[in-house]
Amino acid sequence: MTGFTLHKLHRSLGAEVRGLDLAQPLDPTTRDALIEAWLEHMVLLFRGQELSPETQRRFCENFGPLGERSRKADDRPEGAGVEHEMLVTNVRRDGVPIGSLPDGEMYFHHDKCYVPVPDWGTMLYAMVVTDTGGHTLFANMCEALETLPDDLRSTIDGRRVLHMYKYHPTERVELEDDIGRHDHCWQPAVVTHPRSGRRALYINELMTALIDGYSEEESCGIRDALMAHVRSANVIYEHKWKKGDLVMWDNWCTMHARTDFPPEQTRMLRRYTIRGQALTA
Ligand code: SIN
Repeated sequence: MTGFTLHKLHRSLGAEVRGLDLAQPLDPTTRDALIEAWLEHMVLLFRGQELSPETQRRFCENFGPLGERSRKADDRPEGAGVEHEMLVTNVRRDGVPIGSLPDGEMYFHHDKCYVPVPDWGTMLYAMVVTDTGGHTLFANMCEALETLPDDLRSTIDGRRVLHMYKYHPTERVELEDDIGRHDHCWQPAVVTHPRSGRRALYINELMTALIDGYSEEESCGIRDALMAHVRSANVIYEHKWKKGDLVMWDNWCTMHARTDFPPEQTRMLRRYTIRGQALTA
């Protein structure tokens, strides 16, 4: 008995989990069943949760050790979150955002693909949401790969890609910038999910700067063709946030993006990640 039920959110990925209060400790059977559901559906949604930083953190720790923040503690505004915690918000104090990823649209990306050991999961909890926009889109990158036309697939088969973190949510990375100043890492273009064994496309529009064996311009063209395929393949679930939602997603087989939202409306979510492992083809 796990005490929860699953309700699909989209034909390709995502399921709502009903029947659990995440502020309460999970028993091992329920935790194992949730991991199984997560591996199958890639994105899990829990509505109507009341989570403090402590209870959210404890829930995350059911799935592994917490991931580290990229932004160093002394570079974060005061109150932006303690160790491991990130506030995703447009709230400002004296004109300075008190958290991270404050404004508007964000292009598709995989969290932490630019480090040698990318985080497995991300858990985002909605505390204040906008009336319109600010939706998060999730793409199933296993199905995106399975449905890739042969010519596109052969351009990336067996290649490595350079991912780079130069924070600007709607500005693609460029190599003429000194990459030594930014976190960057070569990863396989197609990865094998360490737990499910499924293969997933591991290229995104925000952080993938180069595909091994191609010029920067050619890489851009291939990346854009891949993104156009993902957008047309009916593999994207768009999540419209409600206060009290917790969404957990798998960064090894999904990428995510955010739609624009009115700057005068407050948006505040709390994020933890789950540490992962090195990825192989
Ligand atoms: C993120 O990319 O982690 C933030 C997504 C969001 O704000 O919806």
